[in-house]
Amino acid sequence: MKKILIINGPNLNLLGLREPDIYGSMTLEDIKDYTENKLKSEKQNVDLEWYQSNIEGELVESIQKAIHTEYDALIVNPAAYSHTSVAMLDALRMINVPIIEVHLTNVYSREEFRQTLLTARAASKIMSGLGKDAYYLAVISELI
Ligand code: DQA
Repeated sequence: MKKILIINGPNLNLLGLREPDIYGSMTLEDIKDYTENKLKSEKQNVDLEWYQSNIEGELVESIQKAIHTEYDALIVNPAAYSHTSVAMLDALRMINVPIIEVHLTNVYSREEFRQTLLTARAASKIMSGLGKDAYYLAVISELI
């Protein structure tokens, strides 16, 4: 069974309330249930561990903890820190399993400052604009 860690950054804990015209009405918990249920209904042999923090240092520590554990892949939505965090990038660079960076929205259709993705430099894949299916598709991309 593959084990995948999913890390979510700042303000994603307020999905559902947060700019619903941009991010939709589902909460992070709803997206988690949606993802897990879809994988379960397909009998996919995968175990997901979800983590969210608004704090850059805690996100760095969650990435560091993944260095010496037995995860097969790391899915990360660093949210606003994607555009600014050299600390997260440096931590991600120490991970030696595939990293899939996901963004719910298409960052390239939004403000210019969202088009610099520092953390994506450490990723093997990036997925942007897939909304609630982002995590499901990122997991599937590691199972095919
Ligand atoms: C986001 C895009 C980021 O620019 C933004 O700061 C977020 C969410 C996304 O999932 O589309 O918080 O990562």
